[in-house]
Amino acid sequence: MDLDLTGRHALVCGASEGIGRAAAHELALLGAGVTVLARREAALREVAAALPAAHGQRHDWRAADLADTAALRATLEALVAARPVDILVNNTGGPPGGSAHAAGAEDYLDAFGRHLIAGQTLVQAVLPHMRARRWGRIVNVVSTSVREPIPGLGVSNTVRGAVAGWAKTLSRELGPDGITVNNVLPGYTETGRLAQIVRDRAAREGRDEDAVRADMQAGVPARRFARAEETAAAIAFLCSPAAAYVTGVSLAVDGGRMASI
Ligand SMILES: NC(=O)c1ccc[n+]([C@@H]2O[C@H](COP(=O)([O-])OP(=O)(O)OC[C@H]3O[C@@H](n4cnc5c(N)ncnc54)[C@H](OP(=O)(O)O)[C@@H]3O)[C@@H](O)[C@H]2O)c1
Repeated sequence: MDLDLTGRHALVCGASEGIGRAAAHELALLGAGVTVLARREAALREVAAALPAAHGQRHDWRAADLADTAALRATLEALVAARPVDILVNNTGGPPGGSAHAAGAEDYLDAFGRHLIAGQTLVQAVLPHMRARRWGRIVNVVSTSVREPIPGLGVSNTVRGAVAGWAKTLSRELGPDGITVNNVLPGYTETGRLAQIVRDRAAREGRDEDAVRADMQAGVPARRFARAEETAAAIAFLCSPAAAYVTGVSLAVDGGRMASI
C-alpha cells in the first residue's frame, strides 16, 4: 500500500493540540513536510519542533485565528506563495454546547465563521496549486453529529451538517482535478475538548468525573475512548496516495458508537 507522502506539503489546522496535533505527527511520519496552524504561537513552535523528520523534510508553523477571515486570508496568501499546499486538514475547536432553540443568531454566525467560512477560505487558498498539480487532499475533521445529532450540541450539530454538505459538493466538483475531499467523524477522543466535556457533565450532574467517563465508555462498543493517534491515522490514510479513489465519504472513527448504518 502506497502511503508515501515524501515531497508533499501538508497544512494542518487546529494543530497546537488534540486531533490536529496528532494528524500533523502521522502525516510527518509518512514523509510530508507539515505546517501547523492555530492561535497559540508558543504551542505551535513546540509542536513543529517535535514533529518527526526522518525523510529530511521541513516543518513550520503559522499563528492565525480561523475566526478572523481577513487575517487568515492574508496569512494563507503568504504561506502558499512561499510553499504551495498539497494536503489540507481542515480542523478547529468545536462550538460551545447548548440547545439549538436557545442559541442566538451570533452563536450560529460565530460557528459558521469558524467552521464553514474558515474552511472555504482555506480551500480557496490552496486550490490553485492543487489544480495545477492535478493532485490534492482535503480532509475535514467534523463529528459523528453529521449522521446522528448529539443532544446538547445544537449549534454544533447544525454547522457540522452544513460542513458535510459543503464537503460532499466540493468532492464532486474537484474530483476531475485529482483532488479528494473527505470528512473524518471522531467519536470520543482523548483530548482537551473531551476532558472539558467530561468536567462540564460531571459538574452539571453533580457526579464524579470517573463515573461520567465510565458511563460514556459503556455506550461505545469498543468500551473505551479513542487515542488521538487513532483518529489521526484515519486522516493520514485519506491523505495518502493509497486513498486516491476514496472521495466524498464521511469516515467515523468512533469505536462503533453510532447506531446508524
Ligand atoms: N475530542 C473528541 O472527543 C471529539 C469528538 C467529536 C468531534 N470532535 C471535533 O474534532 C475537532 C478537534 O477536536 P479536538 O478534541 O482535537 O479539540 P481540541 O483538543 O480542543 O483542539 C482544538 C484545536 O483547534 C485550535 N483552535 C481552536 N479555535 C481556533 C481558532 N479560532 N483558530 C485557530 N485554531 C483554533 C486549538 O488551538 P489554539 O487554542 O492554539 O488556537 C487546538 O489546537 C473539533 O471540531 C471537535 O469538536 C472532537
